Amino acid sequence: MTEMNFRDTLARDMPPMPYGAGPRSTKQLGDVVLRVRGLKKNFGDAVVLDGIDFEMREGEVVGVIGPGGVGKSVFVKICCGLMEPDDGHIEVLGQDLLAIDQKSRQRLRERVGLVFQNYALFDFMTVGENVAFPMVQRGIAKPDEIQLKVQERLAEVDLPNVRHLMPNELSGGMKKRVGLARANINDPELIFFDDPTAGLDPVTSSKIFNLIRRTQAHRNSTCLVISHDIDRMRPACDRYVLLLHGKVHFAGTEAEAMLSRDAIVQEFFRKGDGSKGPVIGVMTRDAASDDSEPRHTR
Ligand SMILES: Nc1ncnc2c1ncn2[C@@H]1O[C@H](COP(=O)(O)OP(=O)(O)OP(=O)(O)O)[C@@H](O)[C@H]1O
Ligand SMILES: [Mg+2]
Repeated sequence: MTEMNFRDTLARDMPPMPYGAGPRSTKQLGDVVLRVRGLKKNFGDAVVLDGIDFEMREGEVVGVIGPGGVGKSVFVKICCGLMEPDDGHIEVLGQDLLAIDQKSRQRLRERVGLVFQNYALFDFMTVGENVAFPMVQRGIAKPDEIQLKVQERLAEVDLPNVRHLMPNELSGGMKKRVGLARANINDPELIFFDDPTAGLDPVTSSKIFNLIRRTQAHRNSTCLVISHDIDRMRPACDRYVLLLHGKVHFAGTEAEAMLSRDAIVQEFFRKGDGSKGPVIGVMTRDAASDDSEPRHTR
């Protein structure tokens, strides 16, 4: 079975797989598409990211988990170039994100999709206009090409007939799926999903994760998925990163997590949502081990 067929089969057969799609050997994976080294971010006295090292290879789906307020969204915003870090190195699709000029950064952003935590649909635009937006901004496609692509992307998320509706006419789950369609409109190589099922019922959440896996398998894109919903994200993810106190506390497959004796890893993987546990995600500068000088946002 080819790699593509294998991925398609996974997507179709979900969710019966009990422990996710499972890790693939690095041989099967492609180049590094995201490499983060020593990433730091403070807000005033709050040390949010305190030296994150992270890597993703082409075709991977990596789940990022951690307590509320630990810095998952901040991490993604920085990797997308929407927020500046205080320190560190970020390589996105082979380019040094912090060193390239604005024009190159814009071109790079067109190769990266982002599904925001709070839908972030423009309420004054129709669904179709929302989905088209990143493609229109890119400025290289003709209107009929854009329309065709919008229809295609909406059909992929099982919303073939909502193009003319306004976002406030949609349910929460529909809005999330429109966000997914929009993030996919430019055929991005790398997609960040920030809590794509927040506030959704369990059935809709499972559908969204299946959809993520299906579209990923279809295009062999690379996905980073932030979620609190460890049980339902399982079928979508190859491996996980657990953020805690500004650092990567755990990185590995679910099987590795299940073998871990670390109480916090156990809390997240065996009991589901660890964010309800007694873990405090954000440190003050005093509590950070190696951070004596204030850092300023660039
Ligand atoms: N623009 C900002 N200005 C100041 N503080 C910020 C800003 N953005 C985020 N923070 C702070 O950074 C910390 C991490 O926030 P972030 O949104 O990344 O958390 P999270 O892990 O995504 O949480 P959740 O799971 O609830 O979405 C929080 O304490 C938050 O208040
Ligand atoms: Mg968040």
